[in-house]
Amino acid sequence: MLLDLLVIGLALAAILLIVVYTAITGISPLPTGPAARALVIDSLPPVEQGTIVEAGSGWGGLAFRVARARPRATVIGYELSPLPWLISQLRRLLQPASNLHLYRRDLLRGRFQEVNVVVCYLHADAIADLEPKLRRELPEGALVISNTFRIPGWRPQHVRQARTRFDTPIYVYRMPDAYRPAAVDELL
Ligand SMILES: C[S@@+](CC[C@H](N)C(=O)[O-])C[C@H]1O[C@@H](n2cnc3c(N)ncnc32)[C@H](O)[C@@H]1O
Repeated sequence: MLLDLLVIGLALAAILLIVVYTAITGISPLPTGPAARALVIDSLPPVEQGTIVEAGSGWGGLAFRVARARPRATVIGYELSPLPWLISQLRRLLQPASNLHLYRRDLLRGRFQEVNVVVCYLHADAIADLEPKLRRELPEGALVISNTFRIPGWRPQHVRQARTRFDTPIYVYRMPDAYRPAAVDELL
């Protein structure tokens, strides 16, 4: 009986924690589905080294796959919600990944200088908040791969569509062309 109450209490606390942080960040820790995940991995540049940041790494499902797909790159995940972050840390026991670093941190306080690729699955407002930071800090040639949401005012290098019920778009942006005004001949 006491054990039952303890389990129910812990489950309710976990749900509450997720709900509170969903309200704080404006988005639930919904993981990228398999089809979109495969397309994100396929959109990574072929370079083996460098730094890849996942902005809002959730439960770690995508971050671990990115780390496995690019074992010589340093993969950094920033996640604010404590429970998904904790679970992503515990996953290390099952899926060791020495090139993956998961920080419990607001992504707006993360470092994007010298980052080669940013992967994100956020919502429109969070992307709008992140945009000036990406523009300020990302080096020339860096890629931003955004699941589902466009970056307002930016032009994607290409858009791919994952075969899901909603034909999930994956936007791929290259710095700094993504936010430069279109060349005059493109406008004509
Ligand atoms: C839709 S989930 C995507 C999770 C994971 N990236 C994936 O694709 O499977 C978005 C995640 O971003 C996190 N997030 C949103 N705003 C954040 C912020 N300012 N700092 C850190 N994490 C944030 C949320 O907590 C949530 O876990």
